Amino acid sequence: MTTADEQKRAVGEAAAALVEDGMTVGLGTGSTAAQMVRALGMRVKTERLRLRCVATSDATAALGVGVGLDLVELDAAGRIDLTLDGADEIGPDLALLKGGGAALLREKLVWEASRRCIVISDASKVVGRLGRFPLPVEVVAFGHASTATRLAAAAREAGITAEPRLRAHQGATVSTDGGNVIYDVSCGVIPEPARLAAALDHITGVVEHGLFLKLADGALIAGPEGVRWLHG
Ligand code: 5RP
Repeated sequence: MTTADEQKRAVGEAAAALVEDGMTVGLGTGSTAAQMVRALGMRVKTERLRLRCVATSDATAALGVGVGLDLVELDAAGRIDLTLDGADEIGPDLALLKGGGAALLREKLVWEASRRCIVISDASKVVGRLGRFPLPVEVVAFGHASTATRLAAAAREAGITAEPRLRAHQGATVSTDGGNVIYDVSCGVIPEPARLAAALDHITGVVEHGLFLKLADGALIAGPEGVRWLHG
């Protein structure tokens, strides 16, 4: 039996093995992505790979520099060859729910600038329907409570009774790398993720949401038996 940490390390190493010399690589955020970043740093050292990396958060950038990766800004990178990132839920057709690490905005920007995106996780994140994990929504700090009210109304129109909760840690409101706040929206099952995403896309004050639809090209999933591929 492997532990959760061992599975994260295994899938992180399998993901780092996909990287080829000369690539521009998008680096995800979270504990699984961190394992991939460490494994990639090791490959750069031992195999002298020449890579350019784009980080999806300040935390990942700090880790990347610490393990010897060369970082470039998204605007300087041009097209990204391959992005490797974690997720909170992986649903049918590789529809993803992301943002548990509050990095969903930069993650989506990097994913959308990438030729190929591979999501990495352990098997517990693979679900029949999205929505068990509250949906993170990044909201502009100015007037965020009023935006949250409109957010709940828009979700209702999309057939979902949603409860937005402002994310806080140790009593302090969580602020994203972009200076925004996060609402975690308990949706229950999301029957039509595309419908909810479309409703959220039109709310003034909502910067981005954690539904990543039609963005993942494949998934590497770790379980007790090893790492396997999941395709959409
Ligand atoms: C950060 C994310 C993460 O990829 C997601 O929360 C998974 O994190 P972990 O690998 O620690 O479970 O979307 O915004």
